[in-house]
Amino acid sequence: MKIHIKTLFGLENVLAEEIDQLGGQNVKPAKRSVNCEGDMEFLYKANLNLRTALKILVPVHTFRAQNETELYQQVMKHDWSKYLSSSQTFAIDNTVRSEYFRHSKYAALKTKDAIVDQFRNKTGKRPSVDVKKPDVKFDLYAFKDQFTISLDSSGEPLNKRGYRFPGHEAPINEVLAAGMLKLAGWEKRIPLYDPMCGTGTILIEAALMGQNIPPQISRHDFAFKNWNSFHLPTWNKVISEAKANIRKSRLQIFGGDIDGDTILIANKSLRKMKLSDAVDIRKIAIETHRPKTPNGLVITNPPYGERIGRTNTNEFYKSMSDILKNHFSGFDVWLISSNMEALKHFRLRPSKKIVLFNGSLECKFEKYEMYTGSRK
Ligand SMILES: C[S@@+](CC[C@H](N)C(=O)[O-])C[C@H]1O[C@@H](n2cnc3c(N)ncnc32)[C@H](O)[C@@H]1O
Repeated sequence: MKIHIKTLFGLENVLAEEIDQLGGQNVKPAKRSVNCEGDMEFLYKANLNLRTALKILVPVHTFRAQNETELYQQVMKHDWSKYLSSSQTFAIDNTVRSEYFRHSKYAALKTKDAIVDQFRNKTGKRPSVDVKKPDVKFDLYAFKDQFTISLDSSGEPLNKRGYRFPGHEAPINEVLAAGMLKLAGWEKRIPLYDPMCGTGTILIEAALMGQNIPPQISRHDFAFKNWNSFHLPTWNKVISEAKANIRKSRLQIFGGDIDGDTILIANKSLRKMKLSDAVDIRKIAIETHRPKTPNGLVITNPPYGERIGRTNTNEFYKSMSDILKNHFSGFDVWLISSNMEALKHFRLRPSKKIVLFNGSLECKFEKYEMYTGSRK
C-alpha cells in the first residue's frame, strides 16, 4: 500500500527516520508529510508508535477535475462500497488549493454527494454523514486540478494521546514536543529539564520515549478498526509486541512551573500515564530552579507574552538568559518561542535555529550552549 503520513512543518525528516526505523518502505519526505509504503500490519504499527505523525492516510482514488461536474463524475467512477456500507456514517476532511475550486468545503460537499448517490443508485439506501464521530473518515486533497481521496486510518489526530487535561491556555502540540526532543538529540541517558513546563507536554513525551512506551498506548479508537479489512489478530500482535518492548528504565526528567494549578494538571497527566516515578514536576519559578545534575539538556517553551505584555516579556527573556547562564552552565538549552522580538532579548547567541510551527504560530527553536567560563 502507498501511505501518506502528515506531520508539522519542520518535522518531515524526523518523521521519515521514525518511519524507516518502524519498517516503512520507500520512505520519502514531502511538504508537511512523508510518503512511504507498507502493509496493514505496518499501518497499525505506525498509528500506535509514530511520535511525530499527525494523521496516517491511505490514498485510494486519484484523478483530475476542473469543475464540479468533472469532480462528481470522477468520484462516481470509484467503488466506495469497498470501504463503506450504507449503514455506516462517514465524514470528509478537506484541503483544497485550487483556482478551479475556491471553496474547499464545496468540493467536499460534491464529493459527499457523489458517494451518497452511488450507494442510493445501487442499493436504495445511503450512508449518513457524521462529522463528529464518523465510522469511516475520508480525506480530500486537491492541488490545482489534481485530486486525491484517501482513507484516514487514524480518525482523531494522533497528537491526541489521551493524557491531556484541560485548564492550561497554551499547551504545546504533543507531536511538536516529541519532534523537538528528537531535533535536540535527547536520549534517555541525558538528564532533561523544562523549568517552564506548563502541563508537562515536553517531559511526558520524553518519558514515553525514554521507556519505549507507544504514544497511543491508552487509545482504543482508531479509524482503521471500522474498516471491512480490519484484522483483529494482526492488531493484537502489534499491541503485544509494542507492550513487550516497553523498558521501565530510570530516567532523570525534571520540570517546574510558577503556576500551582498548572502543576496539578501536569501531575494528573503523569498519574494517568503511570509516569509519576519517571518525571519530577514541582511548583518552582525558574528564578529559583537549580539543576539536580551537573549537566544535561534544557528544552523549554517560555511564555510568548500574551499575559505579561511586551516590555515585561522582553525583560523576562533577558533575565532568563542570565538565570540559565548562571545556574545551568555546562547545559545545552533549547528554547521554542513565536515571540521573535523577545528572543532577541535573550542575551546569548544561538548555535542552531530551526523554524517550526505550534499550530498556526510560526516559532523559532533555538539552541544555546551554556559554556562554563569563556567560549574560547
Ligand atoms: C507557553 S507555557 C508552556 C506550556 C507547556 N509547554 C505545555 O505544553 O503545557 C509557559 C509556561 O511558563 C510558565 N511561567 C511563566 N513565568 C514563569 C517563571 N518565572 N518560572 C517558571 N514558570 C513560569 C507559565 O506558568 C506557563 O505555564
